[in-house]
Amino acid sequence: MKAAARGLSCVVFALVFGASQCAVLSAQQSAPTHQNPNWWKNAVIYEIYPRSFQDSNGDGIGDLNGITSRLDYLQSLGIDAIWLTPIYPSPQVDFGYDISDYCNIDPQYGTLADFDRLVAEAHKRNIGIIMDLVLNHTSDQHPWFKESASSRTNPKADWYMWHDPKMVNGHREPPNNWLSVFGHSAWQWDPARRQYYYHRFYIQQPDLNWNNPAVRKAMYDVERFWIRHGVAGFRLDAITSLFEDPQDRDEAYVLGPDGKPLINAYGDKAVETNLTDNLPEVHDVLRELRQVADQTHGRKVVLIGETYLGSVADLAKMYGPHNDELDLPMDMQIGFPPRRPRLDVNWLRPRIDEAETEINGNMPLFVFDNHDNVRWDRYVTADHKDDVGRVIATVLFASRDTAMMYYGDEIGMVTTPPTRKEDVKDPIGITGWPKEKGRDGERTPMQWNDGPDAGFSPPGVKTWLPIPPSYATINVTAEEHEPDSMLHWYQQIIALKKHDPALHEGEETMLNTSNQHVLSWLRKASDGEAVVVACNFTDQPQTVSFDLTAQGIHGTRVRTLLRTPGAPDPASLGSIQLGPYGVYIGRVE
Ligand code: NOJ
Repeated sequence: MKAAARGLSCVVFALVFGASQCAVLSAQQSAPTHQNPNWWKNAVIYEIYPRSFQDSNGDGIGDLNGITSRLDYLQSLGIDAIWLTPIYPSPQVDFGYDISDYCNIDPQYGTLADFDRLVAEAHKRNIGIIMDLVLNHTSDQHPWFKESASSRTNPKADWYMWHDPKMVNGHREPPNNWLSVFGHSAWQWDPARRQYYYHRFYIQQPDLNWNNPAVRKAMYDVERFWIRHGVAGFRLDAITSLFEDPQDRDEAYVLGPDGKPLINAYGDKAVETNLTDNLPEVHDVLRELRQVADQTHGRKVVLIGETYLGSVADLAKMYGPHNDELDLPMDMQIGFPPRRPRLDVNWLRPRIDEAETEINGNMPLFVFDNHDNVRWDRYVTADHKDDVGRVIATVLFASRDTAMMYYGDEIGMVTTPPTRKEDVKDPIGITGWPKEKGRDGERTPMQWNDGPDAGFSPPGVKTWLPIPPSYATINVTAEEHEPDSMLHWYQQIIALKKHDPALHEGEETMLNTSNQHVLSWLRKASDGEAVVVACNFTDQPQTVSFDLTAQGIHGTRVRTLLRTPGAPDPASLGSIQLGPYGVYIGRVE
């Protein structure tokens, strides 16, 4: 953060509110990332876990220059934006989600200059860079927390969620029964302040006090800093958990069928999160974040939310009553349905339908995979692995949505969890072993080729997580040469999403809604172009037919746009044969 050029708003901000770490900016990226303010609608966003994408300097850890070197590949895949999980300086307890400086780059990933080059090179390819903004908490090594913890009277004493103990029979206890998402009490005793602090995630991730205006101002300054570095948007981490019950009441226990509290993977009695998640005050912050994001003189900065919400009604609220909050709250009901390990037509059909129709005309954001969850192969039971992958990709890309994918999905990379506790890197995998093995399995290095270290690191380097054995066959180079590969499916379906008018922005209607095995839908463009999509959700062959007269479509012939390799090419809507987990996409003529 050495250089000089700064925009007026930031100067004014720094003068009024005092200089923060983010007040001094390096040269502003001049060119807007996307000229089209609607670029994010019906777009494809590609999540990169930077440690695991491409190592350019041979330390076994991916980095920014590595990502820059792979931009041509990403452009050929057809993506519109990259979401980078956190790359800020961090002790890396939670691999970057514990931030100790919001306005710099962790040296293991590169420098601010490397970041600016990545933004500029991505921009040349019409790809935006989306930063992960972690607002709920910082690292306990952040200077703000160190100062806050130093006494009860320092200027930042009220920046975090400090609380006196509850005294029970003369013994000190946490203020209430709230649990950390990562196991055990969410309260940590601080011997210096003689108080507890609240941490929704790891002990090393103390929650900020969002009721404190100074905290808000500091974070909006961070937002401005990265906008000036040319980012196309932000993915707002854990955004629903900024506020907690002001009365600090106990949560109710989650009860099992026997009426007793359920025990979670860490051995705790599970509690609800009604008093610690999705409180109404979150919306005030979203509006304020939006106001900052909109101060860009016409360049659209998109706000994406990590929103694990239980209903479409809650999701709809995240856009704001006047579309003045999030652009794209993540719909987690579709990709990560609770307690539903199988692809299930009867679950997905109404979920997709309501996501399309009950969010006040806004753009849904669908996501099936990320760095916190077992990869897409969680849906594979026995055979037909690639077929299941194609079904998931089809639901993701052929729906009327903005689609968010995770690095490696496009080659069918599979989850590879550690087999021994001593190899685990993600701390929850150590606390929760063997029930909870942590998230290493979905964060393994990208498989570029079948050479040493799979092309991720230079040959012979010890990579931060092991290269999965599957790299021998599941890798980019092999799949580029294989016409029926998953990679080619992704390239083709993303191209259809971008260039076919019906699949790009056509309205969506579910078809054959009583069929228990095949999910089918119609996409219809404003110029009348109609496309049918059918996905077999079973391991048995199925045949479907469509009568589209109720939709005002009288054509009965179809022209195939994409179908599962080897499937027959139908001539009409009267009989479309689908193999196990088969997919058919065709234009009605
Ligand atoms: C959600 C992130 O996706 C996850 O990786 C992280 O551990 C928590 N938030 C805490 O920041």
